[in-house]
Amino acid sequence: MKVTVVGAGAVGATCADNIARKQICDELVIVDIKEGFAEGKAMDLMQTAQIEGFDTTIIGSTNDYSKTANSDVAVITSGIPRKPGMTREELIGINAGIVKTVAENILKHSPNAIIIVISNPMDTMTYLALQSTGLPKNRIIGMGGMLDSARFRYFMSKALQCSMNDLQANVIGGHGDTTMIPLTRLATYMGLPVSYFADEATLQKVAADTMVGGATLTGLLGTSAWYAPGAAGAFLVESILRDEKRMIPCCVALDGEYGQKDICLGVPVIIGRNGWERIVDFKLNEAEQAAFNKSADAVRSMNEVLKTIQM
Ligand code: 2OP
Repeated sequence: MKVTVVGAGAVGATCADNIARKQICDELVIVDIKEGFAEGKAMDLMQTAQIEGFDTTIIGSTNDYSKTANSDVAVITSGIPRKPGMTREELIGINAGIVKTVAENILKHSPNAIIIVISNPMDTMTYLALQSTGLPKNRIIGMGGMLDSARFRYFMSKALQCSMNDLQANVIGGHGDTTMIPLTRLATYMGLPVSYFADEATLQKVAADTMVGGATLTGLLGTSAWYAPGAAGAFLVESILRDEKRMIPCCVALDGEYGQKDICLGVPVIIGRNGWERIVDFKLNEAEQAAFNKSADAVRSMNEVLKTIQM
């Protein structure tokens, strides 16, 4: 198995690090446009191999996509990250051209690759990757819901003073501070509704903290987060390569599911060797569906901006 990670910045390098430690591929290629940067990251990571006990070969490449040939999965992390005070949406002008070019370059050498998009604004970049490549929709997966759900569980575990591993709590909708929808009503602590353990105000705060989870970290770090985004990307790669059929909230093309069409948005999907294999289309309540529709409207108007950008 072979995996490519495009972008050797903090998210890309962390994603590559996690993939290598998981022992899920023989070869891992890291690509970056900055001369020597990916080669340096690859060499540094390779020097952890003996310590960590993995035998994946990691190769770095300065924009030479021939080295990525025949990848089974490619993860796109390229583009600029957000700075404090910036929304993910403000990155669209710069990142759209980058994501489009990267997706084309990947497919030139790996026509069968499944593409995972992490670059922001992720919902629009996933839509762009799908539109510009014309790939079957199941091969383009936006990574946002996995990360947002991990943050939801983190804040929930602090509120309930419990282990994150005993929580089931998912986030659907867009990967934006105002577009994501933490599904508090359906969250459980070992199968019991979380409302049994915390009052409404506490649960509302958990949801609110989750929604600005990325912005909070950007404020603290001066740039956007990387450990959890990188780990979430690697988790998706693992689910694909091991054909795990995990149910994970991901940004995928909707064709009537959840009442939406011609948009990529976060919903629970089954992830396996064919990419996203099935959308789990369960019935939201009225408030959740209204929030989902509002999220779709916001993402759709961001997608409209793509038409005004020269790429
Ligand atoms: C985040 O939420 C990078 O969008 C990513 O941290």
